[in-house]
Amino acid sequence: MAPATVLVMGATGAIGSALVDMLVPDHQEGRLRLVVATRRPDAAAWLRERAVEVRRLDLDEAETAGLEAVRPAFAGVDRVFLVTGYDVRMLAQSKAAVDAAKAEGVSHLVHVGVSAAEDTTIVHFAWHQLVEAYIERSGLGHTHLRPASFMQNLRLSVGAPGVLTHFVGEARPNWVDVSDIAEVAATVLRDPGPHDGRAYDLAAEAASLSEITELLGKVTGQPWRYEPAEPPAFYDNMVAAGADPVYMACVRNVFERTRNGSLIEPDGVFGTIEAVAGRPATSLREFLERNRELFSG
Ligand SMILES: NC(=O)c1ccc[n+]([C@@H]2O[C@H](COP(=O)([O-])OP(=O)(O)OC[C@H]3O[C@@H](n4cnc5c(N)ncnc54)[C@H](OP(=O)(O)O)[C@@H]3O)[C@@H](O)[C@H]2O)c1
Repeated sequence: MAPATVLVMGATGAIGSALVDMLVPDHQEGRLRLVVATRRPDAAAWLRERAVEVRRLDLDEAETAGLEAVRPAFAGVDRVFLVTGYDVRMLAQSKAAVDAAKAEGVSHLVHVGVSAAEDTTIVHFAWHQLVEAYIERSGLGHTHLRPASFMQNLRLSVGAPGVLTHFVGEARPNWVDVSDIAEVAATVLRDPGPHDGRAYDLAAEAASLSEITELLGKVTGQPWRYEPAEPPAFYDNMVAAGADPVYMACVRNVFERTRNGSLIEPDGVFGTIEAVAGRPATSLREFLERNRELFSG
């Protein structure tokens, strides 16, 4: 029997690139056939070097050119990894991906959403839940991944050397390493059956920024301090850097509400990574130790 074909979308992104790294050995040893999709095939030369097929896919083209413009990326694919970026267009992009996957006979779809209460009123969390509902309505086999805040975001919080700037005051958000999200996704994509219809909140631990700066001091051997900032400054900086203002207004609201205590993280989420991937989640200490160089100099 031919191995299943797995399409990884967002393969140049944070989760997608980590996932591809994990699936390349399966591809090279014939356990599955890996195909990746990107808007930027030129950025994917490193994949072709590893004999991975690269398909061009821009989900935004479905709006102007119809579903036919995006269907070819899904042709002959059995399992899909769907991730979208930090943009309100994620709604239409996800719908086009689900519709194209269904039209091309995909059997299972793994979607990256977000960890949130079922009745959340945070707008972009709600978008992810609506995408999940659309996936469920499609009849495709599916697994929902719902990560907490990425530990990798902490790198973006480094302003001046030794200073971590963040916007949630002394609140204690949940954190997850992107590699753990990728590992759970890889586990599901290798053998979707046991995970069909399941939703996995993905988080390792909760920690305040003060606790994280203390850890950083121990790990780097240098003094670190936390500098709390106002959420509107986050919005202004991101929009000035070209990010989608609609999505970034949602993130600003998350920071405001995390800081004032009106946004509570879901309970009972810390065991899922180990249950699915078969090893403990990466702790913040392990993450900082492995990525020490990102926080020094
Ligand atoms: N950051 C966090 O703390 C956090 C927490 C929970 C959930 N999340 C969720 O995680 C997701 C983002 O994951 P990430 O950080 O891995 O994203 P990322 O690095 O920004 O990558 C997003 C990928 O989406 C692809 N993409 C964007 N527009 C596309 C289009 N029009 N057609 C086809 N592909 C398109 C891009 O691929 P190409 O450029 O190669 O085409 C890119 O690789 C979001 O849904 C976010 O809500 C994030």
